Amino acid sequence: MRISVIGLGYVGLPLAVEFAQGGFVTTGFEVDERKVRAINRGESYIPDVNSTQVAEAVAAKKLSATSDFTALKNQEVIIICVPTPLRKTKDPDVSFILAAAEKIQDSLRPGQLIILESTTYPGTTDEVLRPMFDEKGLKIDEDYFLAFSPERVDPGNEKFNTRNIPKVVGGVTPASTEVASAVYREIVEKVHCASSARVAEACKLLENTYRAVNIALVNELAQLCYTLGLDTWEVIAAAATKPFGFMPFYPGPGIGGHCIPLDPHYLSWKARMHGFEARFISLAEEVNSRMPEHVVELVTKGLNQHRKPVNGSKLLIIGVAYKRDIDDMRESPALAIIEKLQRLGAEVSYHDPYVPEIRLEANDERMRSVDLKDETVSRADCLVIITDHRKIDYAWLVERAQLLVDTRNTTRDLDGGRFGGKIIRL
Ligand SMILES: NC(=O)c1ccc[n+]([C@@H]2O[C@H](COP(=O)([O-])OP(=O)(O)OC[C@H]3O[C@@H](n4cnc5c(N)ncnc54)[C@H](O)[C@@H]3O)[C@@H](O)[C@H]2O)c1
Repeated sequence: MRISVIGLGYVGLPLAVEFAQGGFVTTGFEVDERKVRAINRGESYIPDVNSTQVAEAVAAKKLSATSDFTALKNQEVIIICVPTPLRKTKDPDVSFILAAAEKIQDSLRPGQLIILESTTYPGTTDEVLRPMFDEKGLKIDEDYFLAFSPERVDPGNEKFNTRNIPKVVGGVTPASTEVASAVYREIVEKVHCASSARVAEACKLLENTYRAVNIALVNELAQLCYTLGLDTWEVIAAAATKPFGFMPFYPGPGIGGHCIPLDPHYLSWKARMHGFEARFISLAEEVNSRMPEHVVELVTKGLNQHRKPVNGSKLLIIGVAYKRDIDDMRESPALAIIEKLQRLGAEVSYHDPYVPEIRLEANDERMRSVDLKDETVSRADCLVIITDHRKIDYAWLVERAQLLVDTRNTTRDLDGGRFGGKIIRL
């Protein structure tokens, strides 16, 4: 069985490597030539996949990459892992799925199984993909199989990976579910069969909406606790001692990444098409997108206590990736926070061990990560921890900081005593 993965990004590359390690001849189809060359040289560009794994799979002739899509006709299994962003209007942009599906359409032949993994609205596999393949005169179940299986990879998570995260599979027909789940069982420990592709599509959107809504709840709690003078983190830690009926979520400077800020919109868009308004989703977005403003307020008030205006103050941002220990900047709230602080006249610099350079859209400015030197830290009027990368020595930072705004509770064990007073926590 030859496996192919279209789109070798955060989702596609780990999946392709897992199949290759499972002994399958796996080909990645990728439009980005640099990624194709890197894979064929045996190099990984995704932190969760190490280059040794790629190099071994390439040397064993189990893994290769190409941008020549005509080779799709030699494949038995084709898995689509392309991006699903939003348009400026926040409507789903499935153009990458369509582009990949057109390539498959050109090479479709009897005996192929096509699986969509890109997160999308319920109905995409049935209503968009199936008609494209049926148009070729091939019959589902007789000539080809088609299924949806959401990707649940959590970049940076050392405990859960492609192999040990249970996989949900829903085919457009029961036979498609059966064939697709048999393929995943080769590399994934547990496969859950859904009754349809629509259920599998909706399942992924529920998972991400659940996170977006619960994070919004604690983000609102953080603002509420700030008003009441309570320590949000202590309140959550106390509630988390309840052994049932409570799952802790934690506040932060805003949500980022390719999934949580975007995916719920795929669900609300589809609901709106049917005249239904998904109110939790829009409320969660409203609360979460206000968090950068709240962080700016904490910085402003902290500086005020030191009798300093934001205007002209030197601010050092610690961590800009959207979450800890990864290099992913997509939708990172750090960008909004930096831009807001700059608009108030602050001199902003940043340090991130994973992100050497960022681009600010508002003024098309490029910023480079600064080294954490004694002087850089002690001269800053305020440090702002946006991302709690584990590589950073926070005790060292706190000792040198004049003022520190901590949006991740990273300094919890450093509070009080000699450091008390200079840390403001979300
Ligand atoms: N990143 C995550 O943590 C995560 C988790 C679960 C699900 N997802 C979903 O998985 C999908 C892929 O996300 P990702 O993070 O891997 O994106 P990504 O941007 O890291 O990777 C997508 C890759 O597809 C390539 N590509 C784009 N169009 C192509 C085409 N027509 N043919 C071949 N290659 C093409 C891009 O060059 C890129 O390398 C999205 O739908 C996303 O919502 C992502």
